[in-house]
Amino acid sequence: HGVQRSLIQRGARKGDLISRMVMDPALRRDPFPAYEELRARGPISANDLISASVDHAVCNEVLRSDAFGTAGGQGELPRPLRWLHHKVIDPDTLGPVDPPSMLAVDPPLHTRYRRQVARAFTARRVGRMGERVAQVAGDLLDELAGLDEFDLVDRYASQLPVTVIADLLGVPEDDRGRLLALGNEAAVTLDPGLSWREFRRAETALRELHTWFRGHVERLRADPGDDLISQLVLLDGEDRLDPVELHQVGLLVLAAGFETTVNLIGNAVALLDEHPEQLRWLQANPDGWANAVDEVLRHQSPVQLTLRIALRETEVAGRRFEPGHGILLHLGGANRDPAVFADPAAFDVTRADADQHLAFSAGVHFCLGASLARLEAAVALRSLYERHPGLRVAGRPERRGTRVLRGFERLPVSTAGAL
Ligand code: HEM
Repeated sequence: HGVQRSLIQRGARKGDLISRMVMDPALRRDPFPAYEELRARGPISANDLISASVDHAVCNEVLRSDAFGTAGGQGELPRPLRWLHHKVIDPDTLGPVDPPSMLAVDPPLHTRYRRQVARAFTARRVGRMGERVAQVAGDLLDELAGLDEFDLVDRYASQLPVTVIADLLGVPEDDRGRLLALGNEAAVTLDPGLSWREFRRAETALRELHTWFRGHVERLRADPGDDLISQLVLLDGEDRLDPVELHQVGLLVLAAGFETTVNLIGNAVALLDEHPEQLRWLQANPDGWANAVDEVLRHQSPVQLTLRIALRETEVAGRRFEPGHGILLHLGGANRDPAVFADPAAFDVTRADADQHLAFSAGVHFCLGASLARLEAAVALRSLYERHPGLRVAGRPERRGTRVLRGFERLPVSTAGAL
């Protein structure tokens, strides 16, 4: 993985488009012209290191294919070797998407982890959370009452998901703020090409996250609740997760729960601010919020990029892949593929096929929290604009400096505007 990163870095210095699309800081702000440049070259492009695609059909096929696996690949190692790996790499520095994170391993190991966690995210359980989500949104808006201006990200978009996921994982209220800060510091580890300084900062945050999680697990072992972590701690026999597995599963759900939905909510508010007529339509047609959320996911995908590695020799769109060859899947670009979406750069909350996007990926790693994220965003936005019908972006929004995650660091809003 590290080697691949440094090779991509070297390519980027040479100005090669495929490498630049991962490494160039300018593209963090606006990757969309580069997506179109790549699209013009055909469904799959390659340099001598790696392939890349912004083609919806190709991304969809690769994500669903069992001839491709995740970059972690640890799923292929037998258990004793995995233990050795944990010993060599200090497990307290593992990020939420490092193996043996569910997101970084392939079946059959992946299947085992996913089955344990999926029980907490069935459509029925998530459906029942609607009321709780609305209550959290209402409480947050109450706290903001009387403020004419506030930072939407800090005070609302980040708080709602962290409160919901903390409920799900049994996290005490007092720990939530600290976890959010640590999660933000650790989120940069998703991006390739970190500077040494960024890496050390993230590593310090990760150590603190693991230390916190160890204490959390001990508390729940002594006094289990009906949360997901208690369920995982209580697993027995064949199903039992070793401590490293437990940490990686728990931290992934925690981080995925609050590092992504915040971006979705922020991106939605920014887009609706640019399209006030569509906001007014939604205010008159609140049943449209669900589709609007999918259109935001399509147009400004919170997760822009993922990577797959060929596990055996295979062919996609007429291109041969040797085992070990990687392909960068630009989900944010696939979601603007004109072969699937008419006038793809246009934002249209009534677009009929908005939900054909790949913002939640596809195949075995399809986002486990997709229905929760959709619910949170729809409720958050509807509640926000009901309380503040004239809410507008005010001041200067600041984008997050990350490449994989797309969202805002700061989004100042004013509630004083007229409808
Ligand atoms: C996986 C996106 C919210 C939990 C994924 C993947 C994507 C994604 C793209 C797969 C990456 C890949 O295939 O390489 C998003 C977006 C979200 C969101 C855009 C919000 C807007 C959530 C929430 C949770 C969650 C709220 C949990 C509470 C997970 C988990 C996985 C995952 C556990 C790993 C699934 C697996 O490997 O089988 N997500 N996610 N996500 N997501 Fe989400």
